[in-house]
Order: sequence, then C-alpha cells, then structure tokens
Amino acid sequence: MRKHNFNAGPAALPLEVLQTAADQLVDYHGIGMSIMEVSHRSSDYEAVHNQAQQLLRELLNIPDNYKVLFLQGGASLQFAMVPMNFLSQDKVACYVQTGNWSNKALKEAKLLGETKVVASIDATPKRIPDIKHLDLPDNAAYVHVTSNETIEGLAMKEFPATGDIALISDMSSDILSRPIDVSKFGLIYAGAQKNLGPSGVTIVIIRDDMLDKVPATLPSMLRYDIHAKGNSLYNTPPTIAVYLTGLVLQWVKDQGGLHSLAQKNIRKAGLIYDAIDRSEGFYEGIVAKEDRSVMNITFGLQTSELEAAFLQEAKELGFVGLKGHREVGHMRASAYNAVPEASCQALADFMRDFQQRH
Ligand SMILES: Cc1ncc(COP(=O)(O)O)c(C=O)c1O
Repeated sequence: MRKHNFNAGPAALPLEVLQTAADQLVDYHGIGMSIMEVSHRSSDYEAVHNQAQQLLRELLNIPDNYKVLFLQGGASLQFAMVPMNFLSQDKVACYVQTGNWSNKALKEAKLLGETKVVASIDATPKRIPDIKHLDLPDNAAYVHVTSNETIEGLAMKEFPATGDIALISDMSSDILSRPIDVSKFGLIYAGAQKNLGPSGVTIVIIRDDMLDKVPATLPSMLRYDIHAKGNSLYNTPPTIAVYLTGLVLQWVKDQGGLHSLAQKNIRKAGLIYDAIDRSEGFYEGIVAKEDRSVMNITFGLQTSELEAAFLQEAKELGFVGLKGHREVGHMRASAYNAVPEASCQALADFMRDFQQRH
C-alpha cells in the first residue's frame, strides 16, 4: 500500500505517472529500449524534451520571448549561476530575505559581488516583509525573491514591482501550484523534485534580454546563453528526469491545469490548517496566517514529548515526511500537487484524534 507521503522533496509523484513510467521503462513506445538508453540527440529523446518544454509553456502561459531550460546542479547551482551571469562589478544584487533558502541564495551571491538585503523576514510569527515598496539602488543588478520558503512554510502571495530591474525568483517549492504571471520575471528557477518531477533536472525560465547580459568569460556550462542556444542539449541532459517531468506536466494538464490545481491545493492545505486553527492552541502554526504556504504546512505541539509521540503514531498509521526540517524543528506536512486530497483529510482526522487522546 502507498503511504500518505508528505515528504518535502524529493516528494510524492502522481501514481498515474509512476505507472506509465513503469509500463514504458523497458520498451519505450516499441523502440526496443528504454528512453534512458537512447542518445540525447535522437529523434525519440528530442520529442520527449521538446514536448516537456511545450507543456510547461502551455501550463504557465510562458510568453514567446522566454526560453525554457533544463539544467542540472539543482536550485543550489542557480544560487551561484544567477550572480555569475548577472552581477557585474559595478552592480549590486538585491535580495529579499524570507528564510533559509533565500539566505542560501544570498550567501552564494556574496561570494561573487556586492549584495544588498532589501527586505527581511519578520520573526514571530514568521511573516513576509513589506515588499511593495522596495528601496532599490540605481545600480541594482536584479532583485531575488523566494516565492515559497519550503522549510518555514512561508509563501509570497504577491511579488514586488521592480520596474526595469529584473525580478528573479526561486520557485522550487511552489512552481505549478498556482498560475503566475511569468512576464513579471526576468528569470524563474526551480529544482524539479517537488511539483515538477524527480530530482536531477532544474527548470529555468529566462527572458531573452537576460541572455544578452551573460559575460563571455564564464565557463560554458555556467552560461545561460549557451544552454539556451543549444536548447539545453549543449551537453547530455538528465534524460530520465526530463522524461518523467514531461509525464508530470501531462498529468497537470489532465488535472485541468493550474487554476484547477490551485483550488485543489487551497482545499487540501485548508484541511490541515483547519485542524491547527480549531485545536485551541494544541497545535500552533509558526507562520502568520496571511503568509501561510499552501505547499508546506508547518506547526508545533506544546512539548517535544508530544511531538515525538505524534510522529511515532503518525508513522504507524502510514504518514511519512512529517518531521520538520532540522533548522526549524516541529512538524511540516508538504502537500504538493501529487499528494491526494484523501491523504490531507486523513492527516487532519489523525490530528484531531491525536488531540482528543492527549
Ligand atoms: C525553495 C528551495 N530552494 C532551493 C532548494 C535547493 O534545491 P536543490 O536541492 O535542488 O539544490 C530547495 C530544496 O529543497 C528549496 O526548497
């Protein structure tokens, strides 16, 4: 039996996707091989690659003046590639600091040039700072935000208006969870292993004018323009990860696209937040209500003993991935697109039952 999978990433994949992949693993569409065993320059693989790109374009309504890239190195390499490609000596990279992942992005940029923190998280409860009116220096290279802080469970519902300055977002943990206006961004990146597919591929959506800013002195593998020019086939891409991502994207389309998934995600998270809010303090959220993430739901219990008992009982009932990240502690339920509503309902029921018994 499959578990109630609340892992933060790598995370639950749609059952239908896993079944299709299993059916096609040994013999992909009658070619007598798996898709992992063919050249990345073959027409079979190219069709998979281009179809995945096309589906992402369709689902996110990506304008024509953007490229979709499939890179490697995770979102963590993007923390470095962004400043390597866009932070020149005379510029300042601006960061909105909202938690653990934005801190990591900032740390990498600091190694490469001048940075400025233009807004910082409010501490207790955790809250997205005011980002409507950012005080940006004239020589800002870009503004970097993290749309969803996976560890804290904090989500940016609106994005800052940055005028001519490129807005760049790490969307690793909420891409495809809701519709977004891609045209507001110079670049979006996301590791695949939450809503997009398995680990191993990182999606980059980049506006064409950003490609002109890339310094020719960078090694080729770190240059967005080189990857764009080669349609992400400059070197061997992670073919199996791109293939599985394509299957997930088709599944998202079959679900009715992002509007319908967004509503479902709000409902799913709502079941768990409701169990927290109606518990009269037995469970406590750590994020201000208006900034709660729909993907990563964080909460604590009053003592560490109760938390240990909660995790133990949950495990026995088939819930996995509920232990909070080591930096924050407490509990975290990651209810990404592929987590069934029934799993969220089962968790909410368990939370109420556990409360009654303790
Ligand atoms: C928001 C966010 N950014 C970056 C990362 C790092 O991603 P990767 O492990 O793909 O480098 C994660 C991983 O969980 C994340 O949630």
